[in-house]
Amino acid sequence: MDSAICSRGTRVALVTGATSGIGAAFVHALADRGWDLVLVARDRERLGRVAAELEARGRAVEVLPADLSDRGDTERVAARLRDPARPVDLLVNNAGFGVRAPLTAADTAPHDRAIEVMGRVVLVLAGAAGRAMRERGHGAIVNVSSTAGFVTMGSYSAVKAFVTVLSEGLANELRGSGVTVTALCPGWVRTEFHTRAGIRSSGVPDLLWLDARRVVETALRDVRRGRVLSVPDLRYRSLIWLTRHLPRRTVRWISRRISSSRDSSRDGGLTH
Ligand SMILES: NC(=O)c1ccc[n+]([C@@H]2O[C@H](COP(=O)([O-])OP(=O)(O)OC[C@H]3O[C@@H](n4cnc5c(N)ncnc54)[C@H](OP(=O)(O)O)[C@@H]3O)[C@@H](O)[C@H]2O)c1
Repeated sequence: MDSAICSRGTRVALVTGATSGIGAAFVHALADRGWDLVLVARDRERLGRVAAELEARGRAVEVLPADLSDRGDTERVAARLRDPARPVDLLVNNAGFGVRAPLTAADTAPHDRAIEVMGRVVLVLAGAAGRAMRERGHGAIVNVSSTAGFVTMGSYSAVKAFVTVLSEGLANELRGSGVTVTALCPGWVRTEFHTRAGIRSSGVPDLLWLDARRVVETALRDVRRGRVLSVPDLRYRSLIWLTRHLPRRTVRWISRRISSSRDSSRDGGLTH
């Protein structure tokens, strides 16, 4: 990734949510660049298939099945990141899912899971990796956030805003240590995300869809440059610029329009 990592010749990346979508695109792009990989996700069979593909391309692969909504499993992944005998040079905190429950829902379980897997886990794993990497004087952390964190669409936006701000704070804390932190903020990306969350997304204009491989190419370029915020594609950089310069009431109005088009569309959602 950055030149410090490359020059030491140690190139191991741990990717959460490595079996599908953006995470799978990360592991394939890293394998293309000669990285060895530690793969984290719940589905063991699928992890095995991805590992076999990467091994067939000559990569050393470790499979670490974990349900990141389980604190014991998260601790096992954190311990792997702290292990001084097997250093990890790049952490991609990517595992996540869409949330459709209203904030007033009596059952808060979907929000609890989102806060746990996409909020607390990101903090715990990035903290563990950050400490270990700082001791070694090099490393990189990518936290997969979202452009949704710049608007106001339920708990998903709130959690992704947390991830972006957390990443900026961690980048400050690790500044000068040789460890970089990047929040990746994609817009709509064609992955399993929407169908898994029960969101049929054919209402999203073609123009707004991004390809996972291109998202990852941009992210890896931005990590190499030490960028703290990575927003793939000019269209989304422009949209984020607008959300930062428009009055918040206008941002809330735009968010309401997107949410109501989601709720009124038989296709469902515009969450990303
Ligand atoms: N797609 C988009 O439009 C979009 C836009 C912006 C940001 N994002 C973010 O990108 C990240 C990846 O999403 P994606 O679009 O690539 O979705 P995806 O295709 O559905 O992939 C999600 C990955 O996360 C893993 N995962 C889910 N829950 C997990 C858990 N409890 N423990 C461990 N692993 C878990 C899944 O594997 P298992 O099911 O085997 O566990 C899978 O590998 C998420 O953080 C998402 O919020 C997506």
